[in-house]
Formats: sequence, structure tokens, C-alpha cells
Amino acid sequence: MARNVVVTGGGTGIGLEIARRFAEAGDAVVIVGRRRAVLEAAAERLGPTVTPLVCDLADPDEVEAALTTLPARIDVLINNAGSRETGFGAGPHALLARWRGDFERNVLTAVLLTESVRDRLTPGEGRVITISSIAALRGAGSYGAAKASLHAWNHFLAAQLGPSGITANLVAPGTVAGTEFFGPRLDEAEVSRRAARTLLGRIGETGEVAAAVYFLASPEAGFITGEILHCNGGELLGR
Ligand SMILES: NC(=O)c1ccc[n+]([C@@H]2O[C@H](COP(=O)([O-])OP(=O)(O)OC[C@H]3O[C@@H](n4cnc5c(N)ncnc54)[C@H](OP(=O)(O)O)[C@@H]3O)[C@@H](O)[C@H]2O)c1
Repeated sequence: MARNVVVTGGGTGIGLEIARRFAEAGDAVVIVGRRRAVLEAAAERLGPTVTPLVCDLADPDEVEAALTTLPARIDVLINNAGSRETGFGAGPHALLARWRGDFERNVLTAVLLTESVRDRLTPGEGRVITISSIAALRGAGSYGAAKASLHAWNHFLAAQLGPSGITANLVAPGTVAGTEFFGPRLDEAEVSRRAARTLLGRIGETGEVAAAVYFLASPEAGFITGEILHCNGGELLGR
């Protein structure tokens, strides 16, 4: 049976590839982001079962407004939206902007939507999957701290949803190419440096993260909850 799937940040990068996996399986997929043109182009490419929804998920008013468009029953919710801004400068004001911004972009985007649609998650088979990062366990300042707080929240969420038979898990990627995340920062030298930190000697692909998400969303993964699935070529273990 076709499922109702919501993918935040589904217009680009990892989210786009996740949306593609579900759309190819015949599911109805809502992709959420702030840029209408990006979402519409993605939906056009992915096919008629994919619907764009423009919403800044860090803004409670926009999340509330989005509730009228989101499906009444959600089988799979994928909290993938997130980003890491750089170039805030020095001093306490810049520090505050960076830490607040990373928390808003990576934590509140997931928490505001999930808590708002909680009652729409399908009992017995619903899935919530949130994208963390290797940065949650290996540094990266305010961004890593924000992703790490998703881990605590996910544990809480899994405990709350468990009695309804709904699972909540995280996928934590290492460096993944083919997204807007790094912008021009991910040049050839940086790719080599990051590849050398993994056990496989390469960085990841968006489809590899999408495959991990798709597995956690499958009926076969129904006894897995509160977990973090690392997808980083062995970088966490190191050489
Ligand atoms: N690429 C990596 O190496 C890597 C590694 C570890 C974890 N991650 C995580 O993977 C996830 C996907 O990132 P990506 O690499 O695919 O980068 P990306 O291409 O920049 O994707 C991020 C998506 O999130 C959306 N988004 C950001 N803020 C939003 C907001 N406030 N409301 C709604 N949508 C928002 C963006 O669309 P709009 O700008 O149009 O809103 C964009 O489509 C992120 O959570 C990131 O932290 C990435």
C-alpha cells in the first residue's frame, strides 16, 4: 500500500534522494523547504506523487500554516532539513547568532514539525527518522552541539511514541557529496582530506544515506527504535 511520506529539505541533496526513493516505490511524498522554485523543480523531476510545500520550519507560524496542507495521516516523517552557516565573525554577538542559528536550523526545524504532526503519525507502523551528523560525536562546535541535542530529543520521542507502535530513529551521515551543504568549501583538497579520515578512503553519496533512511522506514525495521544509524565509511572509528 502506498504510504504518506513527508521529507523536509526534500528539494536538494540528501533529502531529494530520500524523496526519490519513496516516490519510486509509489508513495505519496510531500517535500518541504523554504524555496518554492527549488521544490517545484524537484517535484517536477520526481513525478506526480510528489507535492512541494513551502515552509520555514524554524518559524512556528509557518509550521502552523503548513498543517492545513500536510496529510491527515503521516506514515513516514523524515526530518532532514538542516544546515550549517559559516562566516559570522568574532565576538559574543556573532557567537550568539551562530549558536542560536545552528540550534534553530537543525533542532527546531525537526522538533516544531514533529510535535505538531504527532497525532497524525500512523499507530502501529509510523516512522520518524531524523538526520543527525557525525559532527554530533566528533566536534564541529555549535553545529555538532545542535545535532547532538537531536540525539537526546530522539530518545525522548522514541519513548513517547513507543506505546503507539511508532519508531523514532536517527541517521548520522559523515561527509556526503552532491548537496548544497558545504557550498564551495568542499573543493578537491577538502574531499581528499575528508576521504582520508574514513576506513573506506572515500566520502559518501546521497543515495547511500537515502538507503539507510529507507531501511529504517521499512516494515522490517519495526523493532528498531531510539537508535542512531551511522553512515560514514568508518570515519567514526577512525584509522
Ligand atoms: N552533506 C553532508 O556532508 C552532511 C553530513 C552530515 C549531515 N548532513 C545533514 O543532512 C541534512 C541534509 O543536508 P544536505 O547535505 O542534503 O544539504 P542541503 O542540500 O543544503 O539540504 C538542506 C535542505 O534543508 C532545507 N532547509 C534548511 N533550512 C530549512 C528550514 N528552516 N525550513 C525548511 N527547509 C529548510 C533546504 O532548503 P531551503 O534552503 O529551500 O529551505 C535544503 O533543501 C542536513 O540536516 C545536514 O545537516 C549533511
